[in-house]
Amino acid sequence: MTQIPATMRQVIFDGAGGPEVIKLVDAATPQVAPGKALIEVAAFGVNRPDCLQRRGAYPPPPGETAVPGLEIAGRVVAVGPGVDTPKVGDEVCALVGSGGYAEYALADAALCLPRPRALDLVAAAGVPETYFTVYDNVFVRGRLTKGETFLVHGGSSGIGSTAIQLAKSAGAQVIATAGSAEKCDFCRSLGADLAIDYRRHDFVEETLKFTNKRGVDVILDMVGGPYIPKNVALLATDGRLVQIAFLQGAMVKEINWLPVMTKRLTLTGSTLRPRTLAQKTEVANALRANVWPLLDAGAVKPLIHAVFPMNETRQAHELMETSAHLGKIVVTTGR
Ligand SMILES: NC(=O)c1ccc[n+]([C@@H]2O[C@H](COP(=O)([O-])OP(=O)(O)OC[C@H]3O[C@@H](n4cnc5c(N)ncnc54)[C@H](OP(=O)(O)O)[C@@H]3O)[C@@H](O)[C@H]2O)c1
Repeated sequence: MTQIPATMRQVIFDGAGGPEVIKLVDAATPQVAPGKALIEVAAFGVNRPDCLQRRGAYPPPPGETAVPGLEIAGRVVAVGPGVDTPKVGDEVCALVGSGGYAEYALADAALCLPRPRALDLVAAAGVPETYFTVYDNVFVRGRLTKGETFLVHGGSSGIGSTAIQLAKSAGAQVIATAGSAEKCDFCRSLGADLAIDYRRHDFVEETLKFTNKRGVDVILDMVGGPYIPKNVALLATDGRLVQIAFLQGAMVKEINWLPVMTKRLTLTGSTLRPRTLAQKTEVANALRANVWPLLDAGAVKPLIHAVFPMNETRQAHELMETSAHLGKIVVTTGR
């Protein structure tokens, strides 16, 4: 029987602000509850939404705690009533709505997935948030299929690096935009057929040239703002624009909506965290069936740019906000 300590270390945001509000504190270890698994966390992933939450711009939805952290990997140390899988002792990674920045975290049993065979627990901590987000937005909402052309902005981000690999493995032609030559090389190394350094080239022109003016079938965008009319212009007939963030704002001065009608476009988007457990479970089940075999075989993987110890979570956030990273940033708890 594993001894579960009464107290643990966790990371909190001591007020809203820059990385300086990040504090490592002692707290009571969470108690297991019906439908939940208690995970001894080996590592947790850092995601851009965590930085937004830290600045006070992305409050946890009702039912979640203020402790940050959306994805974890570790060992199951207890399960609540009604939980068959996972079992105590299993190594899992899990999507959590909060509380991931801790030595112990509660996860919905339905959102725990086995550690992919090709990954250790540190790499597995970089899987859930981007794989849930990309799978649901690109393949469910965006309906990307084999032979179609896919454009992802922010191709070197955690989300982008996952989107390139999953779209490529689904048989799509993949175009990525990114902010430097090094980032474009990284996107190509993951399978992008074309990577455009948007600081040096006009991505609309380059994409139209590459597609012989046809445009693209699906766009996954996290930038918004001035990209919105450009994305609409770049979509082919029956194209789908999927919006998952607005790094450059959600407003546009002027937009011509005529192409939405004449090209029969679909404009959609989503956020993951406030969705119901039933909706997230549906994504988890689809991932288990369609993506886990690829992760197990090492055919797709999280690209881990840097690993920090828990007492350097502040440095992990500072790195993320430089946007210099390629892929994922992970923090280990020492457990
Ligand atoms: N809707 C959802 O369910 C959901 C879930 C998870 C994440 N997200 C969102 O998806 C995005 C990516 O998340 P992540 O964790 O993968 O982030 P990340 O690894 O930090 O990557 C973000 C990338 O965006 C680019 N960027 C940063 N600031 C920008 C700005 N002001 N304008 C344009 N580009 C900028 C940077 O690449 P360049 O140098 O190439 O510009 C950066 O690498 C975030 O906006 C996040 O909030 C949404």
